[in-house]
Amino acid sequence: MWNNRRDVPKVRLMRETSPMFARRSISPARYRDIARAALWLLAFIIVTGAAVRLSGSGLGCSDWPTCENDQLVAEVHDVHAMVEFVNRLITGLVSAAVIAAVLGSMARSPRRRDLTALSWGLVAGVIAQILIGALVVQEHLPPSLVITHFLVSMVLVWNALVLHHRAGLPEQRPAPRRRAGIEPVVRLLTLLASVVLVTGTLVTGAGPHSGSETEATKRALQAQGVDVSKLDPGQLEVERLPFDVPDVARVHGVTVMAFLAVTLWLLFRLRRSSADADLFARAQTLVALIVTQAAIGYLQYFTDVPPLLVGIHVAGATAVWVATIVLHLNTRQPLPATPTTRSTRPQATTAGAALAE
Ligand code: HEM
Repeated sequence: MWNNRRDVPKVRLMRETSPMFARRSISPARYRDIARAALWLLAFIIVTGAAVRLSGSGLGCSDWPTCENDQLVAEVHDVHAMVEFVNRLITGLVSAAVIAAVLGSMARSPRRRDLTALSWGLVAGVIAQILIGALVVQEHLPPSLVITHFLVSMVLVWNALVLHHRAGLPEQRPAPRRRAGIEPVVRLLTLLASVVLVTGTLVTGAGPHSGSETEATKRALQAQGVDVSKLDPGQLEVERLPFDVPDVARVHGVTVMAFLAVTLWLLFRLRRSSADADLFARAQTLVALIVTQAAIGYLQYFTDVPPLLVGIHVAGATAVWVATIVLHLNTRQPLPATPTTRSTRPQATTAGAALAE
């Protein structure tokens, strides 16, 4: 029956009318909830991943996927192993959320191919991250891999934001709103946000928070059968990027200033048009986030990068990235005033509210 093309409408009819299939289909609003959950978890794991690095627990579990050799779960008394292990559990939650996004997109009524493709993008990204994470541990936290791990997570958040945004658009997508003079500025803004993220990771790669202390590195090497007594003390240190921290922090700071300047320029361009009130509000939020994030950046720089502040800085970087992408998405294809979601609230203006919207 499935091979007969003439039967396809019958099959479709069955899917739409049969109680068995009807039970399995979900509404667009429910699907958007699933996409939102995946987005939150993907943003959350960036901060918990940073907590692993900042607490020096990067090699807390010296093996992968087991924590130690044949032991899957970390020892309760070993704090570093526990921190790393809990982060691996959160990876499990993230994996479940992206699989739910794929299954949900197939059960969504009406079904949309773009949503399924974007959900598969999340699954592919999470698989890539699991493999990169394994390499990070096996290679003892080289900065190049730690940076790749962080940046791929930001790409995943981007993918999740596009999915969540598209899931809120009507089935017949409205024509993109054309905004000569605004779109190129927003594109430049997004590019600069990416440059800021990359330069930030370079500062981290050169800085003191490598993710492991000498003792943990020693234990990880021993677990791999290396005779550590034959190594120089330098070989027990986690590799750092060959940059002077003040130099690379200056480059990071300059890219932030360029990013801020372009956001202010956008705000100036948007201020007069009442049709752009939603974008103006989003750009205002972005400015507030950048200024706060820059203040935290300078504070941590002048106080020798205390782990807690660096953790807040990573959370702030995620919020700035979310606010930038939300602004970008709404520039071309704003969500309708009465979206296909249940929400009847006015458009959100903070990054957190953007996630909740
Ligand atoms: C929009 C504003 C900013 C954003 C989005 C941002 C983003 C980032 C990111 C993504 C990282 C890497 C985090 C990691 O790899 O775990 C980072 C690190 C860093 N940023 Fe920023 N940053 C901003 C402003 C600033 C400013 C103005 C400064 C002042 C110099 C600064 C100082 C630092 C320092 C010192 C680090 C390294 C911290 C460490 O040792 O791990 N940031 N930033």
